[in-house]
Amino acid sequence: MEKIKVGIIGAGSISHFHTRAYQKLENVEVVAVCDLNEERAKAYAKEYHIPHVFTNHHDMLQMEDLDAVSVTTWNNGHAPISIDALKAGKHVLCEKPLAMNAKEAEEMVKVSKETGKLLMVGFVRRFGENTKLLKEAIEQNQLGDVYYAKTGCIRRWGNPGGWFSDWKRSGGGPVIDLGVHMIDLVRYLNGKPKAVSVSASTFNQLGMKPDVKGMVKYYSADYSTHNDVEDGATALIKFENGLTLFFETSWVMHVKQDELYLQLYGSKAGAQMEPTIEFYEERNNYFTDTTPVIDPNAYGFDSNFNREIAHFIDCLTHGIPCLNPAEDGLELMKILDAIYESAKTGREVIID
Ligand SMILES: NC(=O)c1ccc[n+]([C@@H]2O[C@H](COP(=O)([O-])OP(=O)(O)OC[C@H]3O[C@@H](n4cnc5c(N)ncnc54)[C@H](O)[C@@H]3O)[C@@H](O)[C@H]2O)c1
Repeated sequence: MEKIKVGIIGAGSISHFHTRAYQKLENVEVVAVCDLNEERAKAYAKEYHIPHVFTNHHDMLQMEDLDAVSVTTWNNGHAPISIDALKAGKHVLCEKPLAMNAKEAEEMVKVSKETGKLLMVGFVRRFGENTKLLKEAIEQNQLGDVYYAKTGCIRRWGNPGGWFSDWKRSGGGPVIDLGVHMIDLVRYLNGKPKAVSVSASTFNQLGMKPDVKGMVKYYSADYSTHNDVEDGATALIKFENGLTLFFETSWVMHVKQDELYLQLYGSKAGAQMEPTIEFYEERNNYFTDTTPVIDPNAYGFDSNFNREIAHFIDCLTHGIPCLNPAEDGLELMKILDAIYESAKTGREVIID
């Protein structure tokens, strides 16, 4: 069996989840790694027994026997590198957010169509067992008409610094980093309606707070305290099917504890997907709470990545429809652009 040959561009934290997942698949070989940081790329190649090492993605893309790449660089690399890869005839799995903004994302979708190569966006949370369960329930109309949703990802002290807090390389703060996942989940679960309007505020009151004591947080690989992105944001997003979404996020906020939540309210029942999956229903005129049982092994970052990567490869080998097409990444960038624009202008933004 001819193996699918894959390259990794950007050998930082999240790329390990990609490489581990590829190496679990019998029909895949990770043949090349590229990082601007040569030492990191070499150490990575040694750890995963990858034969070819590059510090420039253009050189990697010249490899003729390379079928696909994962783009796991800073956000500012997503569009130019994915476009170069597609034009070089490679299929691309690009991490979230698809790009820095909708304009870049539009170009990526266009090039993917022109080249006929797959461009998949890394909305990995779509592959969670809880997402699958809730999506099935919604498709079977168990919630009825879902008219209101609330989602948030709140950190008390969680600005990772480095490229994450440098707008030129990230395109924004927690909105583009955490919000992209949560807003995508609400859209995805509800049949991917188009957003029509956004009214939002972003907050810049607290900054990095590098001197906080007694707390532990995630530091980006190349940590620095430069910070010109928002601390947090809130938004009201309306969709064409009548769904209204309340969204909030923060990297730094004076809140008692971190929070991750996603709740949906329908005409027949309500449901919560995070922090635990639960349904709020009515049976025989009693309000009834139901908690589905999911094996803890089916949860978690690693298993979601394993399923995402296996799906990407299945799309290439079996031609099955892609669950995360680039168009979905573009729709999210339109919403994120509108959040930043609404916050800047102080006005509601209408999305065409
Ligand atoms: N799906 C998820 O849940 C999830 C989680 C974390 C991060 N991410 C995304 O993954 C991407 C990487 O995040 P990370 O936490 O791994 O960051 P990181 O800083 O740990 O790693 C990024 C790596 O990319 C390299 N790099 C940057 N530009 C490059 C270029 N032009 N060519 C080659 N290498 C380049 C850097 O040197 C660094 O080693 C981001 O877009 C982030 O949003 C997704």
